[in-house]
Amino acid sequence: MQQPYNPKNENIQIFVKDKLYPRKEAKVSVFDSSVQGGDAVWEGLRVYDGKIFFLDQHLERLHASAKTLAITDIPSKEFIKDAIKQTLKANQMHTDTHIRLTLTRGEKVTSGMDPRLNQKGSCLIVLAEFKPPVFDNAKGIKLITSHIRRNSPMHLDSKIHHNNLLNNILAKIEANYCGADAGIMLDNLGFVSETNDCNIFMVKKGALLTPHADACLTGITRETTIKLAHELNISCIERNISISEFYNADEVFITGTMGELTPVFEIDGRIIENKFNSNIRELLYKAFKLLTATEGEPVE
Ligand SMILES: Cc1ncc(COP(=O)(O)O)c(C=O)c1O
Repeated sequence: MQQPYNPKNENIQIFVKDKLYPRKEAKVSVFDSSVQGGDAVWEGLRVYDGKIFFLDQHLERLHASAKTLAITDIPSKEFIKDAIKQTLKANQMHTDTHIRLTLTRGEKVTSGMDPRLNQKGSCLIVLAEFKPPVFDNAKGIKLITSHIRRNSPMHLDSKIHHNNLLNNILAKIEANYCGADAGIMLDNLGFVSETNDCNIFMVKKGALLTPHADACLTGITRETTIKLAHELNISCIERNISISEFYNADEVFITGTMGELTPVFEIDGRIIENKFNSNIRELLYKAFKLLTATEGEPVE
């Protein structure tokens, strides 16, 4: 599904490094590490009803990813919170807002891979846009299986939420060519890992299953879904799951900040048939919406 252009975002203010700029002037240098090598970490957050959802969890993951990449001058959580709040206030954003938070290693003194060339400090970008959840939650989405594998910890640890997104982008391109909304990515053993931008769950005979978080991102919505399942006494098993198990599931859904808990109605031409008439995604989605309505850090 292509994101529609929203004219409300034409004149937004964007925070870059240490202050706000109008959209047309918000830029990073051609020497920035994100341009040179995708050398950056990022988070996607949502604002619901005047509250930033799971702000602390996102900042925790951003800090962990930046530490793993040995970014030496990570801005404090207080600084980042303040930058986010300044941005939301400047744009009068209180709800239906998506925040793309990026921390690059910053500008290099000359082009090159070596982080020692970064002598100008890291660069924080807070890009907040008016953007409701991206997928149609009532209709659901269609997936295909991509031939592009998720990185395994042998190659690039999926616990790092980094900007080297090319394998995910290649999977998305494949999905686009097939007329699907997203591509399922397998792990290096051939088990389902996640889609190019969301985690994935299935339901079979009342039990909830999701792949191990070995090759997929440990999504915050994924963790929340597992926690809500426990609270609702729904058993949730993390294990290796093959694509054929997904084809024959009663329910399949994906989870992520962008799209919340979105049902999947088709994978590789196989229709997902709810033979047991279960409504586990719906139960979890209701519990999730209760959280988005009540939890979060006030915008002001
Ligand atoms: C590859 C991938 N998987 C899953 C997710 C969902 O993570 P979260 O629930 O923290 O938004 C994302 C979000 O950025 C992602 O990029």
